[in-house]
Order: sequence, then C-alpha cells, then structure tokens
Amino acid sequence: NLIPTVLCGGAGSRLWPISREGHPKPFIRLPDNQSLLQKSFLRGLAIGGVEEIITVTNRELFFQTEDELAELNLRDIQMNYILEPFGRNTAAAIVAAALAATKDHGEDAILLVLAADHLVSDKEAFRQAVIKAIELAENGRLVTFGIKPTHPETGYGYIEANGSDVVRFVEKPEAQVAQEYMDSGRFYWNSGMFCFRADVILRELEICSPDIVSAVKACMAESKTLRGDRQTQLNLDPETFRLVPDISIDYAVMEKSSVVSVVPCDIGWSDIGSWAALGAIGEQDENGNRVEAQAMLHDVKNCYIKSDARFVGAIGLDNLVIVDTPDALLVADKAHSQDVKKIYTQLKKEG
Ligand code: GDD
Ligand code: MG
Repeated sequence: NLIPTVLCGGAGSRLWPISREGHPKPFIRLPDNQSLLQKSFLRGLAIGGVEEIITVTNRELFFQTEDELAELNLRDIQMNYILEPFGRNTAAAIVAAALAATKDHGEDAILLVLAADHLVSDKEAFRQAVIKAIELAENGRLVTFGIKPTHPETGYGYIEANGSDVVRFVEKPEAQVAQEYMDSGRFYWNSGMFCFRADVILRELEICSPDIVSAVKACMAESKTLRGDRQTQLNLDPETFRLVPDISIDYAVMEKSSVVSVVPCDIGWSDIGSWAALGAIGEQDENGNRVEAQAMLHDVKNCYIKSDARFVGAIGLDNLVIVDTPDALLVADKAHSQDVKKIYTQLKKEG
C-alpha cells in the first residue's frame, strides 16, 4: 500500500519575486503550463496502484492546492490533506503523515515522500527507482534516492554509500567538505525524496529524536479531521503544533539512524533552487537565452528574461536574470542567483 506524501511548504525565497509567501515555489508554472506541484502528484501516481495521496501543506495554501489537483481530474484518488497553521519543518510534516497513515492502514503503509518543488524529467527511471525503494522499505529500511553530484553544492545532503547501505549521511556540509566528498567519488546527493514504512520512520524517530513524535502525537490528539467525499482534511491544532521541534527530517533521523539505504538513480532530477536553474531548463535561443516575455534583444547572451505583462528591451547583456512582475522587478547576475533569498529575507524583515 504505497501512499505518495507530498510536502508542500516553504516560500522558495530564492525565486523571488515570483515565489513568495502567498505564491510559493510549488505553484510556479513551467512552460508546459503544469505547476511543480501538479508534476509532483503525477510523479507519485505514475508509480501505479496508488489509491490515495497525502498532502502536507500550510492551511493558507489549501484552496490553491485543491484547485491544482482539481485541474488534474484525479477522480478515483482519495486525497488526504494535513494542514499546518505554520511550518514546523519536514520532520513534523512527515511524522504527522506517518501517524495519519498508520491510523488508517495499520503498520504496513509505505510512504513515498515527495518534495512539491522538484523536477524529475525521466519518469520511467524514477518509477524503476521507486520499485527498488519499495522492496528495501518493506524490509524495514529508510530509503533515500541518491543523485550523482555535479558540483560541491552546500544546500544538499550528502550520502556515502556502500552498496545500498548508507555509511554516512551529512546534511548541508561546509563548502570545503562538500568538495572533499565530491572528489572522493563515494558520495551521492540526497534528492530530498524518501520511501519508508510508516511504522519504521516513527520507530527510528523515537530512537533518534524522540521529542518530535511525542509532540506531534499530542498535537494530533487535539486536532480535528473533516471527512468528505474522497477527501479528508486534518487541521493541526496551533497551540500544540507550536511545541513541535523545528527540524528537518535530514538532521532529525537520516544523519543518525542505522537503517538508512540509498537507491542511486539517474532520473533527470533538479530541485530548481534558483532562477539560474530555472533558466537552464526549457527552450533557449541560439545565444543561450531563455526568454519568456515579449522582448527585443540586441547582443544579449546566456540570459533568462521573464515578464508576463511588460515588453522588455535588452541590450549588451551577458549572464543575467531579469524577472518582471506587476509589483517587483529582479535584475541579477546568474552567478549570484542564490543570493536572491537575501533580498527576500530583508524585505520580509522590513515588512
Ligand atoms: N508541509 C511542509 N511543512 N513542507 C515543508 C516544510 C514544512 O514545514 N518545510 C519544508 N517543506 C517542503 C518543501 O516545500 C520542499 O518541498 C521539501 O519539504 C524540502 O524542504 P526544503 O526546505 O526545500 O529542504 P532543503 O532543500 O533545504 O533540503 C532538502 O532537500 C535537498 C534536495 O533538494 C534535504 O532533504 C537535503 O538533504 C536535500 O539534498
Ligand atoms: Mg529545497
């Protein structure tokens, strides 16, 4: 009984000004007009035999999320929403999903945790990887999906593998350490997707970070579930949810547990962490520009230009990102596109 569990949270601050609190990264639409969130649901369903999906998201995003799903016309799928009053990070979200799944299905529910804001271009390779993961998960393993690293990215988790066993999991190492890991050739990136039995992740968390499970259990006891036609809605109680430790699943359990496995995979994975990454997918002109705008360019190369309304004229540019929206304009050097989150954070602080 495989249950895709989609985590849809986080503002995606590096994709400001399109991605922001009311319109986070999972809702960004790609040129094929599907949002990253819709793609995540379809990725889960493509595994086959799926009868229900759990979505964990902020309660403010509920209607938006429902609309996205309605567009996909998935009439036969049971939709279970877990709605957070605020984010308490991925460990809390996953524990809530695991508790809800064991309540409905007993011990042998298997969760396939999917981020709502990634791209996987090779669906069939992904399906094959999940099939391997399910087998390991059935045998009591916490399964990660390993991606061959291409640069010493410090925003990812690193997995040292010995066959399918994980020797070491290191979340977001320092640049120098990331470089060493890459050079050693023994490490994978953690894709941020996971597969495990609901009872196994709860047991391992109870061993590695016990406060989280008890705090989420206390919250679930105070929370109400609304049941509708092919849909449930669990509203997490704010008072008790506030007491849940704010920590990611990577730090809370993957770094500490002794039953972690990895399925190495080549699935065309990208977490689209920045405008530079988004500009690198999709069609480009002969000068390496990706243009999603009415625009006229002279001597422009390697740029990503996006504007929904206003016409863009650009002259003599190289390696820039230009994103225009009704109330904010971003102009950035692609090489610095990770720093967009600094603007977002600063703006938020200043209200
Ligand atoms: N519902 C919910 N609530 N979802 C959340 C929350 C939360 O509080 N916090 C994060 N998420 C969702 C995000 O929307 C995203 O889809 C996913 O969980 C991962 O969270 P990120 O905040 O994007 O994590 P990260 O990018 O720093 O690191 C993770 O992903 C990397 C790959 O992209 C880790 O798993 C790394 O090890 C991994 O390499
Ligand atoms: Mg991420």
